[in-house]
Amino acid sequence: MKLSILENETDNDKSKRAFASRIISAYPGLIQLYAFVRFKIIHIRFLEEIEQYLPNRGEILDLGCGFGLFAMYIALCKPEAQIIGLDHDARRLQMARDAAAKLGIRNVSFRQEDLRAWRPDQVIAGAYALDVFHHIPPASGDRLLCDLFAHIEPGGRFLLKDIDTLPRGMLWFTYLLDALMSPRDDFHYRSAGAWQRQLSASGFAPIHLHYLWDILPYPHILLICDKPAREGIADDR
Ligand SMILES: C[S@@+](CC[C@H](N)C(=O)[O-])C[C@H]1O[C@@H](n2cnc3c(N)ncnc32)[C@H](O)[C@@H]1O
Repeated sequence: MKLSILENETDNDKSKRAFASRIISAYPGLIQLYAFVRFKIIHIRFLEEIEQYLPNRGEILDLGCGFGLFAMYIALCKPEAQIIGLDHDARRLQMARDAAAKLGIRNVSFRQEDLRAWRPDQVIAGAYALDVFHHIPPASGDRLLCDLFAHIEPGGRFLLKDIDTLPRGMLWFTYLLDALMSPRDDFHYRSAGAWQRQLSASGFAPIHLHYLWDILPYPHILLICDKPAREGIADDR
């Protein structure tokens, strides 16, 4: 029996991997290890999936950006966009700013905001939240989804990457790691169906649900949520 594998890595694949390596190397000590692990969990294939649905231009919010790894990654992938990372953790944000300055990434910035109370005050081209909404109490999260819908420009998009509640073993695994990383937080997981219903109630349509299966035991889900373009206006994302 013969096995033949045709490897055809493109320059694009190589440059995306190089982006990740540069970003990881910009952090000090243990955070570098965290960044390395985070890029294994949300790896290049997932990031390519996520990145392709975001607009190429305009202001894009990274809600709950943490140390800024993926805000910088998206900024490198989309040089004509402005990525704005929001998080309530001042220490993480300072590390994000230091790393962006070290790498000379100019189209990313970071602001301290508590997403439970924060309200957008400008029109934005798009937004995404990677593993953040389950840190936010449902009432605040639901209000935030409505505010996002109101402030995303017609034809814009919101991506919600979170965790499904099934299979239960994977949910428990995720919970243990969440509790380890954020011991002071409460966690509010919702099923894929519950997210779809809430996003729909916030106004987004259509909503596409993707299950991001992996060998690592995380029940990743990605919801791609559109704000319809105004009738008669071309959708140029
Ligand atoms: C699991 S981490 C994900 C970080 C980043 N999105 C990533 O994928 O690496 C969750 C992040 O949400 C942030 N967070 C939790 N509750 C928040 C709140 N109420 N307001 C702003 N950020 C919050 C935490 O500080 C943390 O950085």
